[in-house]
Amino acid sequence: MRSLSTDALRRAYIDFFVKKHGHVEIPGASLIPENDPTVLFTTAGMHPLVPYLLGEKHPSGSCLVNCQHCVRTQDIDEVGDSSHLTFFEMLGNWSFGAYFKEGAIRMSFQFLTEVLELPKNKLAITCFAGDTDAPCDNESARIWESLGIPNERIGFLTKAKNWWGPAGHTGPCGPDTEMFYWIGPSEFPPPGSNPANDEVNWLEIWNDVFMEYNKREDGTFEPLRQRNVDTGMGLERVAQVLQGVESVYETDEMLPILKRVLREDLWGDIQRLRHARIIVDHLRAATFIIADGIEPSNVDRSYVLRRLIRRAIRSARAIGIEHSGSFTPTVAKEVIAQHGHVYGSLRTNEQKICSILRREEEQFGKTLQEGLRHFTKTVSTLRDGVQAWRAPQDDTVTHFDGHTAFHLYDTYGFPIELTKELAAEQGLSVDEAGFAKAFEEHQELSRAGAEKKFTGGLADHSAETTKLHTATHLLNAALRKVLGQHVQQKGSNITAERLRFDFNHSEKMTQEQIAEVERLVNEVIEADLPVAYHLTTVEGAKREGAVGVFDERYGSQVKVYVVGDDTKKTVFSREICGGPHVSRTGMIGAFNIQKEESVAAGVRRIKAVVTGGPAEIDVAREM
Ligand code: SER
Repeated sequence: MRSLSTDALRRAYIDFFVKKHGHVEIPGASLIPENDPTVLFTTAGMHPLVPYLLGEKHPSGSCLVNCQHCVRTQDIDEVGDSSHLTFFEMLGNWSFGAYFKEGAIRMSFQFLTEVLELPKNKLAITCFAGDTDAPCDNESARIWESLGIPNERIGFLTKAKNWWGPAGHTGPCGPDTEMFYWIGPSEFPPPGSNPANDEVNWLEIWNDVFMEYNKREDGTFEPLRQRNVDTGMGLERVAQVLQGVESVYETDEMLPILKRVLREDLWGDIQRLRHARIIVDHLRAATFIIADGIEPSNVDRSYVLRRLIRRAIRSARAIGIEHSGSFTPTVAKEVIAQHGHVYGSLRTNEQKICSILRREEEQFGKTLQEGLRHFTKTVSTLRDGVQAWRAPQDDTVTHFDGHTAFHLYDTYGFPIELTKELAAEQGLSVDEAGFAKAFEEHQELSRAGAEKKFTGGLADHSAETTKLHTATHLLNAALRKVLGQHVQQKGSNITAERLRFDFNHSEKMTQEQIAEVERLVNEVIEADLPVAYHLTTVEGAKREGAVGVFDERYGSQVKVYVVGDDTKKTVFSREICGGPHVSRTGMIGAFNIQKEESVAAGVRRIKAVVTGGPAEIDVAREM
């Protein structure tokens, strides 16, 4: 096996396809997809090439090769292990109707075994097992066998594993065959071992996708006129193999960044190492995303960027790294030092990258401070015995309740580990089961309520959806005032563009009623009333007259969001809800009902939008 630097590997790959196999090298595209609403980021090398996979002619011909930097958030929870990244570089070669399975597999095999000189007996393969949409890919398996991969090293897997694409909801896709390298504890894999029966010790390094289908809007697959090949090799993973290191973080280009975050003598502590890896990955991603023109905020990809930076800071905090503004820029500078020779835009944007990170770090620091204040307040309330409860088996221990721990996580970004640490300093233990329950409830609520635009746990709490969420409460209250107290929520669905609210009412609303509801909501927005919540029991919420869907979805503690001020008698709405909401109604902007219609017997539906509010909002807090 050859030992190659990351740079040399990049070069060897491109040269192999250009010089030996007549491909044309094309530049990598921006991380921000052009004219493509189906994804937030460029997730693979094939992504900018979708029109050509669908039959459009590419100006550089039908055989292309490049290195594409990619962002994928769906594996974000795996980041911190030895091989998963949200930002990575992908080496890829494509055929638009030129070579197909035989050609692609032969070239992959030749590159791995002749150029990189990887030992054949440490390679294994998976192929598509077949289902009702497409047949089993025996053809690929036979080609591998003809090249000398023994039958026992070829596994067959279902669509979940051996099928790629489309990148969004629709588009080119097809069965794939994946290449794996043995990284198990023994020098060679045991007889019969392959990735279909051992997921741990085989590292996926390359994927050849045979794009011969187009997935349509209705979920069906039609054969493409042009049969294509899309391959993707993980640069960091292959560099790890060639350099004989334990993880992608220890390759020549990543190691200096890791060292900058955590001293090598501390890597033995696996928890610390995990956090350090998360920091390296997330800030590497953030640096590249900013270089490609995005700034952190609360919508779409800017929100993903914000979450990446904040997750990195949380990890920094968890391992005791000071973060008062200069931590993230320091790491970014190392990222630029390592990658700037290949990605020139990192160098030209260095100042901008650093100042954006500094600002975000400072701002998040303030949110964390607020969270700390909330924590301290909760502890003193506990001490006063107001919220304290005793563990039945031990009447001396006081627990920190799970709902508050979840609130710290949800509103202030406190990971449970941080709350546990802070609680331990106060001699308290955290009700982790309660936290997990609150977490699950919240996830169920947001799953039910949101059209999934973000994957990988980055749920949509953007400024726009938050405004619409508060507008929904105002609408609910206004409908009850105009149509009567029988009105109850039957469903709610919010996207970044509009709200949709279903409620029981037997007749079509008149134009006058619609206008009156709209007027009432806008009046409350004009009045710029405060919005805040408090925690109480379901019984307590009922007593104070809060509206809600009183079914089993609520835990023992609920949040009641109040719009208006009790002391000034300006309360307009009182509703049980998980949040988040804007902190003042004035942030919502103008409210406009676009449609009123029937959805079922006795159930009406309203669609409404808000316009003209500020781009940045403050989130309603505990009163
Ligand atoms: N699109 C495929 C992947 O991302 C191959 O490039 O794995």
